[in-house]
Amino acid sequence: MKQTIARVKQFKGSPKIPGDKSISHRGLILGALAEGRSEVVDILEGGDVQSTARCLKQLGVHITKNENRTLIDGIGKKGFSKPSGILDCGNSGTTMRVLMGVLAGRTVEAQLTGDHSLVKRPMKRVAIPLQQMGAKFLLTQENFAPLTVTGAKLHGIDYELKIASAQIKTAILMAAMSAEGVTKITGEIGSRDHTERLLPHFGVKIDVTKDHLSILGGQPMSANRVVVPGDPSTAAFWIGTASMIPNSKIEMHGISLNPTRTGFLEVLRRMGAKIRTQITEHHPEPVGSIFVETSELNGVTVTREEIPSLIDEIPLLAVIATQAKGVTIVEGAEELRVKESDRLEAVATNLRSMGVALEVFPDGFRIEGVQKLRGSVLPSFHDHRIAMAFSVAGLVADGETTIEDAECVSISYPGFYKTLKELTNP
Ligand code: S3P
Repeated sequence: MKQTIARVKQFKGSPKIPGDKSISHRGLILGALAEGRSEVVDILEGGDVQSTARCLKQLGVHITKNENRTLIDGIGKKGFSKPSGILDCGNSGTTMRVLMGVLAGRTVEAQLTGDHSLVKRPMKRVAIPLQQMGAKFLLTQENFAPLTVTGAKLHGIDYELKIASAQIKTAILMAAMSAEGVTKITGEIGSRDHTERLLPHFGVKIDVTKDHLSILGGQPMSANRVVVPGDPSTAAFWIGTASMIPNSKIEMHGISLNPTRTGFLEVLRRMGAKIRTQITEHHPEPVGSIFVETSELNGVTVTREEIPSLIDEIPLLAVIATQAKGVTIVEGAEELRVKESDRLEAVATNLRSMGVALEVFPDGFRIEGVQKLRGSVLPSFHDHRIAMAFSVAGLVADGETTIEDAECVSISYPGFYKTLKELTNP
């Protein structure tokens, strides 16, 4: 499917933001492991979360939906059943990596695969710590899916995480729950902390300090209810758009304002954006409202330490940087090369097609604004965040911009184009 976007003069409204993708995955998975019936309210209806639900069902977990409530009958002490066929994780890195951790210490054998993008993404980074715990994996070329995990007896380890990835951290924590003894994680643990926040909600004790996480294996898990807040990485598209386009004003409510996810808001504020937030709830996640108005934007430098808190928003930031006065530099973002697409390459290709001059580094980019964007026909690279970031670019470009293979937005935001239309025709 192609989507054509034209320049707009204003951007206004109060869009409802779909559920957070990371919390939706975790709600389903923790609910599946707990004893009893859990409930996930306002789960994201996106392709990635559906992949997690489908794989869990294949492992014998009973999941049903009743309007905005997803009910999960957890396996508790009973364990998973032998999977009905290969577990297809679709486009979802979180599904595959977290399930590797979940399955490592169970009694079943499972094969995991994914779409053309997921089978090219590195999985050794997850297999290595889990193998140290005693897990048994067979990976394609020692790094990729399709892969096989054969449940094994696991033991706790001390592990220093070298990549600031919440997917790896969560996989280790999932394996740690079925391991004997204590697992301790040190190093790059500052990525999104939804798993650490949700585990106690399901009755699991976890010790969290700024330097380490530690968890004792074999703790019972009890069912609970998770209300999924709006996804800040989704809200980001409208925040960025309203900041750039004259005469714009938007507000959104019920969004996760978890500090491990608000890097984009902080960076935009440093650029001069007018953004106000108001926290309305604190537990287990800070949730609140976001109010944005147009403002003059200036270039900004984003350093390695900040990257995990805005990892998914960087393609959008590159688009915004073209409309900000002065130099924007992003560094330390080499992880973008192994996302659903090589996002640094995708950003460079599409911005250049729109007439933008930029420098691309192995771990980031330098863009000097303000530069005019020229409407163009752009590939989505079958990557939802690239499709959405360049749809936003189309709103400030001269002429028409066409996004090819735009259906991939449904991975995280099925209603993206409908909402875009409503906000541009208030
Ligand atoms: C996610 C973690 C991030 C993020 C992805 C979702 C998660 O990936 O990019 O969209 O839910 O844990 P990494 O952990 O690989 O950085």
